[in-house]
Amino acid sequence: MTIEGATAVRVFAGLRVLLRRASLAEILMLRHAELRPGLPRASAEFAADAESATRHFGAFVTASSARATSAVGEAVACASFMAEPHAGEAAYQLRGMATRADVARRGIGGALLRLALREVAMHDHARLFWCNARLAAVPFYRQMGWRITSEVFDVPSVGPHRVMTFRVSSAAELRLERDDTLA
Ligand SMILES: CC(C)(COP(=O)(O)OP(=O)(O)OC[C@H]1O[C@@H](n2cnc3c(N)ncnc32)[C@H](O)[C@@H]1OP(=O)(O)O)[C@@H](O)C(=O)NCCC(=O)NCCS
Repeated sequence: MTIEGATAVRVFAGLRVLLRRASLAEILMLRHAELRPGLPRASAEFAADAESATRHFGAFVTASSARATSAVGEAVACASFMAEPHAGEAAYQLRGMATRADVARRGIGGALLRLALREVAMHDHARLFWCNARLAAVPFYRQMGWRITSEVFDVPSVGPHRVMTFRVSSAAELRLERDDTLA
């Protein structure tokens, strides 16, 4: 399957990764392993996954070193955006944001999120994004410029969360980073 959209190749602490739009099939295993470990695979599938407005993104290994634990083509980060109004306004909900634990804190999740926000803002004209952020992920989203907009609430079998939002006034605000190489 060919999915159009911007792509970027970057090296994150020795791991060369391609950031791009993806199909659900390409990212579902990672989403399940990182976000619903020990639960049935179906628990990692969302009702809106197959909607035509839904956009999936992934970071895929393009080259491995001898020491690497990742095979070429393997997904190491994922994120999905679903058209879902927020507070009465048209918006996209970010769901299934994850980086494989052994390559976390290398910048991969942040780079994928930036590329994905830019794509959805540019091609789907999204201006408001929101998510139910796990408490452990709140510092990540804050670092990415998202704002906390709710008290803590519980999501059964997942844990405590807060609603966070991110607003852009134009897609041009979301520039690629200087070291992104368009593939
Ligand atoms: C949250 C998550 C997606 C972040 O992905 P990542 O690839 O590790 O993120 P990055 O390396 O791009 O982090 C960018 C910045 O965010 C902040 N950040 C990321 N993870 C953080 C953490 N656990 N604690 C504090 N700050 C954090 C840091 O400022 C980091 O920059 P730094 O490493 O230079 O300090 C990843 O940790 C993850 O998959 N967690 C488990 C699943 C999860 O909770 N997903 C979110 C569901 S709402």
